[in-house]
Amino acid sequence: MSIAEIFDNMDYGPAPESSEAALQWIAARKGKFDHFINGDWVKPSSKKWFESLNPATGKSLAKIATGNARDIDAAVSAARAAQKGWRDLGGPARARYLYALARAIQRNARLLAVLETLDNGKPVRETRDIDIPLVARHFYHHAGWAHLQDQEFGDFEPMGVIGQIIPWNFPLLMLAWKIAPAIAAGNTVILKPAEYTSLTALCFAEICKDVGLPEGVVNIVTGDGKTGEALVKHPDIHKIAFTGSTEVGRLIRQATAGSGKHLTLELGGKSPFIVFDDADLDSAVEGVVDAIWFNQGQVCCAGSRLLLQEGIAEKMVAKLQKRMETLRIGDPLDKSIDMGAIVDPVQLSTIKSLVKKGAVEGGTVWQPKCDMPEGGCFYPPTLISDVTPASTVAQEEIFGPVIVSMTFRTPDEAVAIANNTRYGLAASVWSENINLALDIAPKLDCGVVWINSTNQFDAACGFGGNRESGYGREGGHEGMMEVLKPKFLSRLPSYKETKAPTPADYKTGATLADLDRTPKLYIGGKQARPDSGYSLPVFSAKGDKIGEVGEGNRKDIRNAVEAARKATSWTKASSHNRAQVLYYLAENLDIRKAEFADRLKLMSGVSAKKAQAEVDATIQRLFSYGAWTDKYESAVHSPPMRGVTLAMKEPIGTIGIVCPDDNPLLSMVSLAAPALAMGNRIILIASERHPLTATDFYQVLETSDMPAGAVNIITGPRDELTKTLAEHDDVKSVWYFGPQGGSRLVEAASTGNMKRTWVNNGKARDWFDIAQAEGREFLAQATQIKNIWIPYGE
Ligand code: NAI
Repeated sequence: MSIAEIFDNMDYGPAPESSEAALQWIAARKGKFDHFINGDWVKPSSKKWFESLNPATGKSLAKIATGNARDIDAAVSAARAAQKGWRDLGGPARARYLYALARAIQRNARLLAVLETLDNGKPVRETRDIDIPLVARHFYHHAGWAHLQDQEFGDFEPMGVIGQIIPWNFPLLMLAWKIAPAIAAGNTVILKPAEYTSLTALCFAEICKDVGLPEGVVNIVTGDGKTGEALVKHPDIHKIAFTGSTEVGRLIRQATAGSGKHLTLELGGKSPFIVFDDADLDSAVEGVVDAIWFNQGQVCCAGSRLLLQEGIAEKMVAKLQKRMETLRIGDPLDKSIDMGAIVDPVQLSTIKSLVKKGAVEGGTVWQPKCDMPEGGCFYPPTLISDVTPASTVAQEEIFGPVIVSMTFRTPDEAVAIANNTRYGLAASVWSENINLALDIAPKLDCGVVWINSTNQFDAACGFGGNRESGYGREGGHEGMMEVLKPKFLSRLPSYKETKAPTPADYKTGATLADLDRTPKLYIGGKQARPDSGYSLPVFSAKGDKIGEVGEGNRKDIRNAVEAARKATSWTKASSHNRAQVLYYLAENLDIRKAEFADRLKLMSGVSAKKAQAEVDATIQRLFSYGAWTDKYESAVHSPPMRGVTLAMKEPIGTIGIVCPDDNPLLSMVSLAAPALAMGNRIILIASERHPLTATDFYQVLETSDMPAGAVNIITGPRDELTKTLAEHDDVKSVWYFGPQGGSRLVEAASTGNMKRTWVNNGKARDWFDIAQAEGREFLAQATQIKNIWIPYGE
């Protein structure tokens, strides 16, 4: 037999990894696991345990404690008690613990990899080569941040106690993403693993004990969604970090609205995998394998929509089908298989029903003739072609080994289809033309772009999405900022609401010569009459009626959002040009400073000196942000793979800004200027009590080359207008700086498009204090980071 014939006839030989050590580890704990609270194992107060199954065999692996509110309470108490001591230990001392955890993970790498595979069903090849090494890397990387904390984050402090809820698709890796940055920064945590996959988290708890991590720093409470709910609701938690489905993310946003809890959400995705005519098709085929058959497609950023340029579509599909024929599905412990088991029968039936729907909707479902294992939870690699961009399978997250394909003709069409989803997590772009790839990347509305690669992750690079894929970033400097808060925040006084005029004061017909000049709203660069046709009285600090403003309503907000959407020229303008406009605004305000000071004095009752100081500070603030426009720079991360990651700070889009009543001119400009400096278009809801400086300000805007629609100003009933803004799908972020009730309103109303929110939680800032009212914190809120992975160097 010739060598070629041997190769042709060679049978596939299994290379099974032994499960013995992992099964022994479980058996040594009598197959039953309690919660890990305050450094010890604690029985669930429910006295209930649930079964955790091996999805590849359907057999029970272990019994896991069902956590309830009492268990959560005990864990939160432990975390609270431990937090100050852990923080005060200092970064370098905390770093030593994180290094110890990283090393212990490496020492236990094989056990953790096999345990993960048994519990989750993913191939041991992946847990061994990807999940566990990345877990160790996360602890190493964040040990470094702990060490550098005072130097790099000197003005920040840990948030406190953080509740973390993770999914089942990367059980230990998601734990590392959540726990490593949080404890590095000096927080303590309560982590709830997903109910299907708790075992590696419990093994990690043992590792924490082994390395002598102080008690209460890491607490692990197991259970299902109800346990998660109890964690979310606990009043002594300062932040919730969640990864999972968009539906549950929405519930968590609702449940935490107005509570003051910080929130990061890493939710679902329907990421495009875009292949241009000139791509290296063989590489792209391997890319698809990694994009959608990695972890059986149960990956939030899986490339699940294949967008093919028409010229290569047929060829690419043929190559892909050929490759699919060679994928091996089987025992996840076999090191030679490509795809293991789906996590649970529930997930399997979701996948099956969505594929059925794809066929009913006219898609062509294709599966290779591969050997499928008997029993267990398995599903073959699947390609659904001829789908339309609006069909269910092109829109809904299948979270299984199923890719849908579509074609496009031009790069613009590719971008339009790519962005035609409610999600915005990741994208892959395949082209040998770097000009084309780098032209497409900024146009994709998502948090991560991989050029000629896919599914790359590293602890130094931020990860997270836009739109209904959530907000916040995990990893690197960006991720550290999500577990720290400015030190001054905990010292802020409460926001004092100035008594608003009562409805009885409205429309009373009080007269004043000044009323002849009732200011209108400012929409799309024009003064616009309010849709309601009504005006509202404005009172001086003494209670005299000093003017009227338009009573804006929903329709006015919608018109303003429409105007802002069209004002793309502001976003496209260079940072140099935006700076020029901000300087121009400052100069024009300077010319009219006496007039503004008089108005402030009359309206808010401050002395002439204070009014003058407020106008001066406002002018300085505009100059500051003119300076910042080209200095709040993007970063380049260096992951330990070939290439670099550009962490591009991009504008968010349309931001709604609800202004406070205190220092009405300075506070409004302190909020508007950073948003504008970064290229956003804004809708300002003026101070309800003191709106006249806002309406005077549009005369400054009109003389300062600000493009129409970049700034829109609405006066009227704050809460009503705020609600409309927060519910509007084209508004991507809402900033709210009024009384406490409004923070709740904004957060609760934001779930439609999962918009970002930035609220003051009923606290008042000192708008004169640069540390509180200007700079990076504001600029960070005005931008979202897109991590673009590009080939670079050898
Ligand atoms: P899920 O979102 O229900 O579960 C994720 C975590 O949240 C689990 O730990 C769960 O116990 C917990 N949880 C559930 N309900 C909760 C609540 N009301 N409050 C607090 N915590 C709660 O995800 P599930 O049901 O496991 O998967 C359903 C779908 O979600 C999948 O088919 C997939 O489309 C998507 N998914 C997305 C993930 C991602 O990484 N973005 C990860 C897992 C699932």
